Parts: sequence; C-alpha cells; structure tokens
Amino acid sequence: MISGPVAVTGSTGRLGRALVRALAAAELEARPWSRPEYDLDVPSAADALLDRDRPGLLIHCAAWTDVDGCARDPALAFRRNATAVSELAISCHSRGTSLVLVSTNEVFDGRRADRMGYVEGDATGPINPYGESKLAGEQAARAVYDDGSGPTLWIARTSWLYGPPGADFPHKILAAAARLPAGAPLRVVADEFGSPTYTEDLADAIVALVRGRAPGGTYHLVNAGYASRAEWAERVLAIRHVAAPVEPISQREFQRASSPPLWGVLDSSAAAARGVVLRPWQDALDDYLAGTAASR
Ligand SMILES: NC(=O)c1ccc[n+]([C@@H]2O[C@H](COP(=O)([O-])OP(=O)(O)OC[C@H]3O[C@@H](n4cnc5c(N)ncnc54)[C@H](OP(=O)(O)O)[C@@H]3O)[C@@H](O)[C@H]2O)c1
Repeated sequence: MISGPVAVTGSTGRLGRALVRALAAAELEARPWSRPEYDLDVPSAADALLDRDRPGLLIHCAAWTDVDGCARDPALAFRRNATAVSELAISCHSRGTSLVLVSTNEVFDGRRADRMGYVEGDATGPINPYGESKLAGEQAARAVYDDGSGPTLWIARTSWLYGPPGADFPHKILAAAARLPAGAPLRVVADEFGSPTYTEDLADAIVALVRGRAPGGTYHLVNAGYASRAEWAERVLAIRHVAAPVEPISQREFQRASSPPLWGVLDSSAAAARGVVLRPWQDALDDYLAGTAASR
C-alpha cells in the first residue's frame, strides 16, 4: 500500500512525465519534482521538498542520461548519478519514504556468452562512466535501505527508453532517413542488442510493481523480446512506410565517446512472476508510432 503522495524526480524527462500520467491513472497523487527546485547538483536539494510534500514513495527518474557526456566528465556523472542518489536515499529513508531508483542495463558489461537476458543477480561490470555512475548510485541506495527496517527500496533497471515527447531513437532514425537522398542506405549498428522499452509501459509497470507490494529489491523491467539497433530501426521505418534500406554496421564503425554494452538484454521474468508483464517491444513501438499513444 502506498500512503501519501508519490514524488517523481526528473518529471520533465521522458520517463518522469510518463510516471506522472501512470500515477494519475492509478488514482495516486503525483508530486512532480524538476529543476530548478530539485537539482542533482545541489546537495540536500530534496530535503525541503520532502518536508513540503511528505511523500510515502519517491520515484527517482532524474539522472544525467547523456552517456557520451558522462564519458567526457566522469566526475560530474558520479556526482549526479551516484552522490546525489546517496544524498536522496539518506533524506528519504530518514523520513520513512520508500524509494524507487531507476537504473540501467549499462551496469552490465554486455559480454554474456550464452545470449540469455541478464537476470537481477548476475554480476555487474559496467564498461563506461555512465554505467559505473549508475551502479554506484544503486550501491549507495542499497547501503542506506538494506538495514531491513522501515521503508522499502526498489531498483528498476531498464533499457533503450523511448516515448513522448520524442527526440528519441525512433525519431532520430526517421529524421536521419528523411535527410538521405532517395534509395540511399541508413547505416545503423547491428551488433548492439537490447530491449527497446516504451516509457508509458515502463511507468505502468513500476506503478504496478509497487502497488502489488513486490518485496524490495532489484527488478528488470523492459518490453519483452530484444533487437539489434538495426532491427529496431528497420521496424521504425516499416511502421512509417519509409523505404530507406538499413545498412548494418558494427559498433566499432560508429564513433562515439562512450561504448555501450554489446549485449544489453535484460530478463524481466522476476517481475513477471509478480504479475508485472510488459508486452512485446514490437507491439509497444507500433502503438507509439501509429499515434494511438496520444489517447492514453
Ligand atoms: N533513456 C534511456 O534509454 C535509459 C535507459 C536505461 C535507464 N534509463 C534511466 O531512466 C531514467 C529516466 O531516463 P529518461 O530517458 O526519462 O531521461 P531524460 O528524458 O533524459 O530525463 C532526465 C531527467 O533528469 C533531469 N535532470 C538531468 N540533469 C539534472 C540535474 N542536474 N538536476 C535535476 N534534474 C536533472 C532532466 O531535467 P531537465 O528537463 O531539467 O534536463 C529530466 O527531467 C534515468 O535514471 C536513466 O538513467 C534511461
């Protein structure tokens, strides 16, 4: 049972705004927190907001999600994605507020040999500063909540988020295809795998998990199935009837500051065992790009 309002940090972000909607749909009172009131760069920024709103639960979506930026400035990534989480967890726990910390598949190294999805207990081993900072955030929150008493900590790891208001991978692919001369191929990485996850589905899943009184701990929450980036792009173009062919390239050919894990697939069966099931990624993407999502 969630008592009191539910605070959502990063409420201007993709997942944060979906959560505010999902909470309202579940008839829970959402308290959206965003800059400048809530700033990851300001230690103890949460204290005044916690005292004002007195939430029973806080869902922490705010993060420095620019993975290439994190690679260029790992100290700032650590400050925003780990130290700020530690400060927030201490402030929440001391007030009896439960916490959902949103984390990432990038806590894994992506070298899993059996091509099965990572489960919650698998060994972590981030390979870039974003993943390192998010893992440090997880560890900091666990250190605060793992005394087994009082409020609950859930860590929800996810991957490859997309959703309103756009500016996401599907829309970048559509924009890139629109810039190409007719018939020219769109070069997309084909050796990086993950589960594209619709923020609206993830938000509903997070709310269902905490409402269903899932025990505290770590849960993987992604739309079912997986794809390479190139397969994801092909599906995007097919839904929108864009004829551009996709030319598969390797991650090595696509220069960027940060290398994501090549095999970033998460297994969501622990959440499914608690009745929280996300639909196949293809169905969610169809829903999003067909525009039906606007009516949600
Ligand atoms: N995007 C993905 O593919 C992905 C995959 C796995 C996990 N995740 C995790 O999922 C969560 C939500 O991601 P998202 O895709 O919704 O991210 P997003 O759209 O980039 O939103 C990030 C949110 O964090 C806020 N934020 C950034 N820097 C801040 C700061 N210094 N102080 C306060 N707020 C700050 C942003 O506020 P402004 O609007 O003010 O910038 C925004 O509201 C994050 O924890 C992320 O690590 C994301």
